[in-house]
Amino acid sequence: MKVVMIGAGYVGLVSGTCFAEFGAQVTCVDVDQAKIDALHDGRIPIYEPGLDDMVARNVREGRLHFSTGVAEAVPEADLIFIAVGTPTRRGDGHADLQYVYAAAKEIARHLAGYTVIVDKSTVPVGTARHVERIIREENPDADFDVASNPEFLREGAAISDFTHPDRIVIGVESERAETHLRSLYRPLSLIESPILATNLESAELIKYASNAFLATKISFINEMSGLCEKVGADVHAVAKGMGMDGRIGSKFLHAGPGYGGSCFPKDTLALTRIAQEHGVSVRVVEAAVEANGAQKARMVRKIVDAMGGSVAGKRIAVLGLTFKPETDDMRDAPALAILPPLMEKGAQIQAHDPQGADEAKSLLPDGIHYCDDPYAAADGADAVVLMTEWNAYRNLDLERLAKIMNGRAFIDLRNVYDTATLQHAGFNYACVGR
Ligand code: NAD
Ligand code: UGA
Repeated sequence: MKVVMIGAGYVGLVSGTCFAEFGAQVTCVDVDQAKIDALHDGRIPIYEPGLDDMVARNVREGRLHFSTGVAEAVPEADLIFIAVGTPTRRGDGHADLQYVYAAAKEIARHLAGYTVIVDKSTVPVGTARHVERIIREENPDADFDVASNPEFLREGAAISDFTHPDRIVIGVESERAETHLRSLYRPLSLIESPILATNLESAELIKYASNAFLATKISFINEMSGLCEKVGADVHAVAKGMGMDGRIGSKFLHAGPGYGGSCFPKDTLALTRIAQEHGVSVRVVEAAVEANGAQKARMVRKIVDAMGGSVAGKRIAVLGLTFKPETDDMRDAPALAILPPLMEKGAQIQAHDPQGADEAKSLLPDGIHYCDDPYAAADGADAVVLMTEWNAYRNLDLERLAKIMNGRAFIDLRNVYDTATLQHAGFNYACVGR
């Protein structure tokens, strides 16, 4: 099968590379010249574990290609995936669909022969039909179907999520489109990944509903963490006890500084806007969004309290800046909401992140001192804040830390350590919900 992937970002590059791995001929197209140049030079523009080897192998074996233009690859393609960004539209919280529509228009001009155009981007209900209208207007003679195939991969685990998905959702309206998609995903049906075929609207909504449900689960346990702190319960035990109930499940019940990333924040917000537009209330999702903002604000208070009620003139070592480990993605990272108020209160920040520092520099206020390793960040610090649970922070040399620090506060926003160990090492330990 010949596949064109429009957008070579976190989703497009991973999906395109995995389809090539399945044996398809894939061209990843991106308007970002620097990204495509990097890929042609054998450099991967994002940090995603395992992706470099897989890209290199598929390029070497002639199945994976990169381009800045669609003109060459589109006429040959059996399937064209749109995997461009759908960020929050400035001002109103709706998903910004300008990149999806621009891609559709661009594709339309070059279509030749029957082609399935598939939305892989996370898009509001009705987008696939609008893409269909755009293509029809641009090229009335084109022979095509539209489909929706939302993506459920997580950054940092993208390749294994893509190659071992819990399910593949395809929204289709013609047998021909369904056959094309099933045949592309055949290597996964061989390992018994279920394929759920629905109509376009259901597929589009499944994606938002799934992300909103997971975000709600996190907000739920984060609110419980606040209650645990007041009543002397341990949120780990509470989550474990809840998770043992098969109807609840143990995943996504890890309390922390609030969810971040390129998707949960924007997708929960977009879902509330979709519902408003249709006059439907989604109060649970609205509450999850609000609770997430409150959790981040609560983390600022927790840090200030742990440092004796004031951070003015104090030095804080921040370990981890990205929204989760194993990615360089800083989009909506909790650090972006937690560090600026601490700086406004007079704190000096010394930060370390294994992959995200470059991106962080463009998003966080000036004045942060970026360090090459966690101990350099902790040097002379009054407190350590563990913001993101990178493996590099899971086994810190506590003795060394105590020696180089000025103070003894250790605020663990990811509950990586246990209280007894940190107290034994001489730290004043604060964590979330324990
Ligand atoms: P991204 O910003 O990393 O990548 C998008 C890419 O599209 C960029 O490289 C951009 O230059 C390119 N682009 C924009 N307009 C283009 C055009 N007309 N032609 C060609 N290229 C174009 O975004 P992402 O994180 O990969 O997300 C893409 C979509 O997938 C979003 O809708 C997102 O919600 C969804 N999604 C993301 C993830 C994730 O983990 N990041 C997971 C599931 C779904
Ligand atoms: C999430 C979903 O998990 C994917 O299924 C989905 O495809 C993707 O969004 C998307 O639509 O883009 P991702 O954002 O990469 O994936 O990362 P997650 O592992 O879901 O983490 C999101 C945020 O929630 C992170 O800030 C993480 O620290 C936080 N989180 C996660 C918790 O605070 N507690 C948990 O138990 C789990």
